[in-house]
Amino acid sequence: MRIITSITEMQQQADRFRQEGKSIGLVPTMGYLHEGHLSLIREAKKRSNVVVMSIYVNPIQFSPNEDLEDYPRDFKRDVELAQAAGCDIIFYPDSNQVYPGEYLTYVNVEEITGVLCGISRPTHFRGVTTIVAKLFNIVKPHLAVFGQKDAQQALVIKRMVADLNFDIKIIMAPIVRERDGLAMSSRNTYLSQGQRNQAAALSQALFEAKEKIVEGERNAAILKKLISSRLENLSDGEIDYIEIVETTLLSPVQTLAGEILVALAVKIGKTRLIDNIIIEV
Ligand code: PAJ
Repeated sequence: MRIITSITEMQQQADRFRQEGKSIGLVPTMGYLHEGHLSLIREAKKRSNVVVMSIYVNPIQFSPNEDLEDYPRDFKRDVELAQAAGCDIIFYPDSNQVYPGEYLTYVNVEEITGVLCGISRPTHFRGVTTIVAKLFNIVKPHLAVFGQKDAQQALVIKRMVADLNFDIKIIMAPIVRERDGLAMSSRNTYLSQGQRNQAAALSQALFEAKEKIVEGERNAAILKKLISSRLENLSDGEIDYIEIVETTLLSPVQTLAGEILVALAVKIGKTRLIDNIIIEV
């Protein structure tokens, strides 16, 4: 496995792979890798000849009151884990190269970035689409893998790719969970033991809702009430949102039909956790 830190070198390497007829799979991350990230490497490996994982804590997707400074980092450990999972190249650029002083260009997907997580994080997705568009131009992948853990992010990127005619296939890979159902996240390390125990309620509430849907419940209001009843009494919990939307425009549905995203965000102490299920009704 190679580590590339220079943007030009990454672009030249991508050109060489393409000249050799090799397909490139990209897995963008912010590091502090866990099994969820590693599952994306394996997914990319199945579908492409070489896998590039980017590790970059992208400052422009954090707002000033968020956790940019505290975001966990352990590059040495990330290198070992990525290599063991079959990654071929880690792209690890530094911020001065990514956003030099004269930087002025941003990519913005409209509408679907102003709902769900976009309400409490109004500039977040603009930061994500900007860095991902840049990574696409640097790594020149044939496909890129994103986790359903951040379902809105993956759907926003699919929209960007379709709208801007990027010739890149976007794969949404399933959520990898802890034993008690908690979706793995680099931010779970912020939780105290007590908060960690409470955090299991997020996925449990979603799984309960899923059971009701499988049993035939189609009323979004009833399902949202069921989920909130499981989350509103957590001692350190504060519900940000619980929404049931269709997966194209992320519009709320009253009656479930087609492909449905049930998504929620809850603050446990200072840590904002998200989780979701996607279900075809
Ligand atoms: P990060 O939070 O590091 O996540 C990188 C990728 O891993 C994302 O596609 C995310 O959805 C996926 N992922 C995280 N936890 C997962 C889990 N438990 N199961 C499956 N996949 C999981 O998302 C970002 O970084 C950034 O916004 C990025 C796209 C890199 C742009 O900066």
